[in-house]
Parts: sequence; C-alpha cells; structure tokens
Amino acid sequence: MGWLSVGGVGMSESEVEIVILTGAGISAESGIATFRGADGLWEGHRFEDVASPEGFRRDPGLVHRFYNLRRAGLGEVAPNAAHLALVRLEREWRGRFLLVTQNVDDLHERAGSERLVHMHGELKKALCEGCGKSWEWVGDLGTGDACVYCGRVGVVRPDIVWFGEIPYGMDEILGALGRCRIFVSVGTSGSVYPAAGFVDLARRVGARTVECNVAETSASGNFGERRTGLATEVVPALVEELLGSAW
Ligand code: OAD
Repeated sequence: MGWLSVGGVGMSESEVEIVILTGAGISAESGIATFRGADGLWEGHRFEDVASPEGFRRDPGLVHRFYNLRRAGLGEVAPNAAHLALVRLEREWRGRFLLVTQNVDDLHERAGSERLVHMHGELKKALCEGCGKSWEWVGDLGTGDACVYCGRVGVVRPDIVWFGEIPYGMDEILGALGRCRIFVSVGTSGSVYPAAGFVDLARRVGARTVECNVAETSASGNFGERRTGLATEVVPALVEELLGSAW
C-alpha cells in the first residue's frame, strides 16, 4: 500500500479521497458536441430558449424536440478511452472515489462507472414539475405525456437542470470536496457555477488539483497542475500515474 504525505501528515492510500469532475469535453471524442462553440449557440439555439424554465414555458414543444434529438443521438455514440479510464480508476482506487459529471449523456454509466452523480440531470430521465418525481425515459417526450406517478399531463419535462435551478447531489458533492486530497477536472470550460467553483473548494482543503483539457480555460489558473491534450490521451495517462508508483 502506498503512502501520501499531506501537510506533513502521512496517510495510507485507503484514506485518500479523489473527486473527478467531467464536462462536455470528455464526450467530445465520442461524437457529442460541446456547449460553447465560437458562435455562442448550443446546436443552433440560444441557451435561454432550450436550457431555462422560462424557455420551456414559452415553447415546450421546441424544448422537447431539442432534447428528444439529443436523447435519440445517444444510440449513435459510445464511451471512449477517457470514460473507460475513469472506470478503471474507480475500480482500482483503494480510497474513496466520486465521479461528478455535468454531462447529461449516459456514457459514464455505459462505460461502467458506479460512484457517479449527474449534477445537471440526465437525458434518459423525465421529471414531473407537478409532483417532483423523476423516472427513466428512453424514447421521445412530448407535451401530451402524463406523469407516471401523479398522472398529470403537460407538466412532464426532461430531467435536466436548467439555468437558475439547483444542481443535483450537492450535499454529497460538497461533502466529498471537503474531504478530498485529489481533485481532477476533465473537459470542462469552468464557466458554469457551482461546478466552476469546485476547484477552489478542493484547494481550500489542500487537495492536489489537476485540470485535463485540450485547451487553456478561464479556470486554468486555479489549478495546481495542467494536462493539456485530448481527453482520450491525457486521462488514461493520468489514471495510470495515479494508480502507479506515485502512491
Ligand atoms: P463547454 O462546452 O463549456 O466546455 C467544454 C470544454 O471541453 C472546453 O474547455 C474544451 O476546451 C474542452 N474539450 C473539448 N474537446 C476536448 C477533448 N477532446 N479533450 C479534452 N477537452 C476537450 O462544456 P461544459 O464545461 O461541460 O449545463 O459546460 C458546462 C455546462 O454548461 C453544461 O453541463 C451545460 C451547459 O450549460 C447544463 O446543461 C445545465
């Protein structure tokens, strides 16, 4: 078993908690478009039209069509080497592990990740705005669909956390960040809070912080280390290093 010296205190590897945050960049090489293109649009739409409660109330049909396309597209993509490397890390890491994703695709779970929080929701779930319950959903969703729990029609939406809404799993995430010794961010621009602030929380408890991204981001300066390159290359290499002799 390896040992890590944190603030002069030796810790066994089994005590080292690691938190990984992923964003759209980890799924880019699987063929899913990232959010922040040069034109500031998301697949040709304004964010406020397809990613806000107000947009949904204005035009629920448009919002359903938008997410139906994304949901259907999941059948055409597969997890890549970066997703798979994080599964290996989860399985072989002896300490506590938490994977937090901002992604609404299902590539982490299809790769085999288990300790996973979808903080921005999931394409493959529907949510009832009437009773607050959510459930698995694989096909198209529309304004005529009824809640499987309360039966109401017209209040069912994609289970996606939109702007102005509170992300899922924040208690668990903040708990893990408060204990973690290593924080790794993969493929996120670091422009959407609260996820963009996780690196600061990790640094506050003295964690090692690593940013993996193909390009410099506005958050790069907040990280202690940077791995620049494609996620499918830098993430497997980092996992190898974390599981290897360094510990
Ligand atoms: P962005 O589109 O803002 O950022 C994607 C990041 O991935 C950028 O920093 C790219 O440089 C990087 N990137 C692209 N391809 C890569 C590759 N092959 N390997 C490594 N890095 C790569 O996406 P997010 O940061 O995930 O929220 O966006 C955060 C949130 O904004 C999303 O979860 C979404 C959106 O509003 C909701 O839907 C609620």
